Amino acid sequence: MNHLLDVENISVAYVSNGKQQTVLEDVSLYIAEGESVGIIGESGSGKTTLSDTILNSISFKNGTVLGGNISYRGHDLLSNTKPIGRQITYIPQDPASSLDPLFPIRTNFKEIIKTHMRDSSYKKIDNVINDALTKVHLSSEALNIHSYPHQLSGGMQQRILIALALLSNPELIIADEPTSNLDVTTEREIIRLFEEIRTGHGASFLLTTHNLSLAKCFCDRLYVFFMGNVVEMAQTDELFSNPQHPYTKALIDAMPSITEKKSLKAYAYSACIYDRKPSGCRFITRCREKNDRCVIKPEERKISENHYVYCWNEMV
Ligand SMILES: Nc1ncnc2c1ncn2[C@@H]1O[C@H](COP(=O)(O)OP(=O)(O)OP(=O)(O)O)[C@@H](O)[C@H]1O
Ligand code: SF4
Ligand SMILES: [Mg+2]
Repeated sequence: MNHLLDVENISVAYVSNGKQQTVLEDVSLYIAEGESVGIIGESGSGKTTLSDTILNSISFKNGTVLGGNISYRGHDLLSNTKPIGRQITYIPQDPASSLDPLFPIRTNFKEIIKTHMRDSSYKKIDNVINDALTKVHLSSEALNIHSYPHQLSGGMQQRILIALALLSNPELIIADEPTSNLDVTTEREIIRLFEEIRTGHGASFLLTTHNLSLAKCFCDRLYVFFMGNVVEMAQTDELFSNPQHPYTKALIDAMPSITEKKSLKAYAYSACIYDRKPSGCRFITRCREKNDRCVIKPEERKISENHYVYCWNEMV
């Protein structure tokens, strides 16, 4: 399969209070045409930073790319200053803060339509909006397009953001925790909608999430992030049946706690603290399988054709 996106050895730092902190270290990742790729990992592991870097918006956030390349269908994204909106689109975590609260839904749509389709569709704006809403199963009876965002439920707001994202007929959709503010039923509906978009429009997805159940049911392949590093990558089935990294195993081990709504296991989930970044393996302070080699940063170890891990401990 052809690669849509290639991220190669990307390192990113934020500068705040005169101090530079590296939060992505040599991260590499690819997405093939039609693939759904997931990034899983705890809070602060760098998932959103990677999305922002791919979307070329990291510099708007006091971030800076220290090194590496990102290409889309072979075209360099980092040095390309032109918007990439038609090919890649973004669905953010919080729909409420992504829609303009001062304007009704119709105006929110109109602004995007004017950006993407000025020549062809401006006069037919209501038809374009209705078509877009139909794609996300929102009928004009269910939704008054003259309503303001705050008058709608979280699920409706998220559907509207998805409809807005689809206006540009994207090839790649980057969805950053798209369901974390929704209840379980609405979350399932949104994921069903993603499946339809994937099969109906042939779009690829990069989904970042804390929710392993979601990643398991939607993604073909998963990258596990820990403290700004990829620690394991595998096809989804392979990752769940044959996890290699102690952190991946801990995440999977904690899954029943999520479905049972018990407290999360601290071993698997606690925010990354970059101030106390160990010099060798970044997971060493929490690892129950560490050995003398772990004071050196682990190298990539191939497990099978599409499965690799960064860990010194050979467990199989
Ligand atoms: N604008 C910023 N300035 C300084 N540090 C930042 C900034 N944005 C993020 N960070 C830090 O960078 C690290 C990675 O953050 P990021 O938001 O990418 O993580 P994440 O995996 O998306 O977390 P979450 O799951 O909570 O969304 C964190 O330590 C975070 O505090
Ligand atoms: S390299 Fe060592 S410390 Fe790091 S995860 Fe593997 S066993 Fe644990
Ligand atoms: Mg995030």
